[in-house]
Amino acid sequence: MQAQIIGAPIQSGAGQPGCIMGPDALRTAGLVAALEGQGVTVSDRGNLALVEGPKVTHPNPVLKNLQHTADWVRTLRGAADKAMEETDIPIFIGGDHSMAAATLPAAANRAARAGKPLFVLWLDAHPDMNTLESTVSGNLHGCPVAYAANLAPFPVFPEVPNPVDPTRITMLGLRSVDPPEAEAIHATGVDAYDMRAIDERGVAEPLRAFLERVAAEDGHLHLSFDVDFLDPAIAPAVGTTVPGGATFREAHLIMEMVHDSGRLTSLDLVELNPFLDDRGRTALLVTDLVASLFGRRVLDRPNRPNAGR
Ligand code: ARG
Ligand code: MN
Ligand code: MN
Ligand code: MN
Repeated sequence: MQAQIIGAPIQSGAGQPGCIMGPDALRTAGLVAALEGQGVTVSDRGNLALVEGPKVTHPNPVLKNLQHTADWVRTLRGAADKAMEETDIPIFIGGDHSMAAATLPAAANRAARAGKPLFVLWLDAHPDMNTLESTVSGNLHGCPVAYAANLAPFPVFPEVPNPVDPTRITMLGLRSVDPPEAEAIHATGVDAYDMRAIDERGVAEPLRAFLERVAAEDGHLHLSFDVDFLDPAIAPAVGTTVPGGATFREAHLIMEMVHDSGRLTSLDLVELNPFLDDRGRTALLVTDLVASLFGRRVLDRPNRPNAGR
């Protein structure tokens, strides 16, 4: 299996700086070796350089860094559409979650070309379903799902030829949802599990049901992993920590189950802010989770590179 790594040092969609360093922290933590250790042939394409695009404006004065983020989304969309053509599994390393405004439409384009439905597994404390009108913070990393699913006009971003079907999105880990986002979840039929649902049912049951749907419809599967899905006690390096997140064991189980499904077709690793990390532990944890996602099992682990840390 082949994978490309595409670094997207985007931080203008987040409320504080630091995600610009995310791609290099993941490389420093051993992301390439973790993938190669699972037999993946990796081509690391380095970090994208921003290309300035057409001038954009929007009447909502609360929107932050609109031009810069729009330029990034356009730049990454071009690279993502290309990577989707070139490799089995593009891995987009960020960078804040505004990246998904490029990677979700690109994944949907590839699925449409293949004549398959696109499913999205969204692991995040937040649904990121704000619109350019509903956002209160003005941070565009809170908007990519609403854009990619075409829930509202986003004239500042490129056209979305193949909107993501909200009923094929499963969200796990939600614990910070703005009122308009809650309304959008209900109105559109996004399959969303907050932490209460996970406490009551665990991660395995809803995830198994989701993966069975993907298999039954022979779908593509894009996994979008926001570091704030994890509990801040184990993953401090993120600007939008919310208490009560996924545990080490829940996160690994999800990765193992997705691996076993054999369905993964593209991946985002987003919101890592190394400026907030503690001796690289969050970057190392994300790298460790990626190894599980690509097939590492507990009983295969005695020689793992980070053993003994
Ligand atoms: N809902 C909040 C907002 O729109 C938080 C978004 C956090 N998103 C993220 N990708 N960390 O500002
Ligand atoms: Mn997010
Ligand atoms: Mn989040
Ligand atoms: Mn495997």
